[in-house]
Amino acid sequence: GWKMEDVMDEEIEVINNTVAPDDHVICALSGGVDSTVAATLVHKAIGDRLHCVFVDNGLLRYKERERVMETFDRDLHLPVTCVDASEQFLSKLKGVVDPEMKRKIIGKEFICIFDAFAHELEQKLGKKPAFLVQGTLYPDVIESCPPPGSGRTHSHTIKSHHNVGGLPKDMKLKLIEPLKLLFKDEVRQLGRILKVPEPFLKRHPFPGPGLAVRVLGDVTEGNALDIVRLVDEIFIQSIKDAGIYDSIWQAFAVFLPVKSVGVQGDQRTHSYVVTLRAVTSQDGMTADWVEEEFGAWGEVVEGEIYNTAPDDSSVLSPTLATLLNGSPPCPNQGELPISTSYSTVYCFENSFLKEVSQKICNNVRGVNRVTLDITSKPPSTIEWE
Ligand code: XMP
Repeated sequence: GWKMEDVMDEEIEVINNTVAPDDHVICALSGGVDSTVAATLVHKAIGDRLHCVFVDNGLLRYKERERVMETFDRDLHLPVTCVDASEQFLSKLKGVVDPEMKRKIIGKEFICIFDAFAHELEQKLGKKPAFLVQGTLYPDVIESCPPPGSGRTHSHTIKSHHNVGGLPKDMKLKLIEPLKLLFKDEVRQLGRILKVPEPFLKRHPFPGPGLAVRVLGDVTEGNALDIVRLVDEIFIQSIKDAGIYDSIWQAFAVFLPVKSVGVQGDQRTHSYVVTLRAVTSQDGMTADWVEEEFGAWGEVVEGEIYNTAPDDSSVLSPTLATLLNGSPPCPNQGELPISTSYSTVYCFENSFLKEVSQKICNNVRGVNRVTLDITSKPPSTIEWE
């Protein structure tokens, strides 16, 4: 079987053959699994000739900057510069309500900041950095260049996704994409070997534009961002306490710029409404709201059970197996489950929802109503904007 250790050694060799001994490399960290694993791998190969930047765009979750910086520093020893650009982002977003416009502004601001970082680094080093690390995965490669006859279309035409890592225009950086043949679960396996902490590897996906797509309308209105941060933290902590975080693809809170009437204590209130969303999914392309019984990943191949759950390193993607082995993988290996061998029920109990709702109304000033999103994808998207 394939070992992720072999993949890691192979990748490190490739990086060392690509980057000359006096070359410098830059990387934008989003706080997500992909960019973190990519940077950790490159750091293992070339050490402190890697220079990372993490941008606080003012749209991060509760204590997120502190939490991810601590992981970069204490657990991974990555050389990371943290840029607090919240004011800059939020002033550009003031008054903007169109979701696509919000994404474009955030993408553009990000490139400006990254550009400035790259130029400052050039001053400091006395030479231009030569490479840029990106955490591109295999599905991103397929998505931006669908194989002929696959029937897949560019999802970018549906919604423009701005992941971190826009290219500074005049830098002429060459790309290093060490994860571009891997699927998400394989990136997690690689991360495990690289000692990226387990809870970090299991974090739910978080969109590049951050809370901007979870505060509907103008993100700078009132204290919407503070409200959504607190509500989200209460919801996520409750999910973790209930031991179901890992069974959920994504869970989060959304701020609705809508006020409803309530009564708290003996006071009549006129406060905001929030909604909670939790979905199960295999890839984010389709999703079910957390309610249904769903099959866990598992398959029977020639009398043996191959569990394709994230912990198993015996199944690699067909492409990666071909790269390493020179031939495609044995039949069925790495494909989607033929038949599910077991299933588990995941749903929120009413008592859980009741407790979360009470905690939110008791602890978050400005909220007097909590709703639950019970829509799958399609017809809804996972995010609200
Ligand atoms: P939707 O909302 O399109 O989301 O069903 C599918 C997955 O993509 C994430 N998402 C984004 N990620 N930039 C990102 O990097 C974006 O603009 C963006 N919009 C959605 C979403 O969180 C879900 O995992």
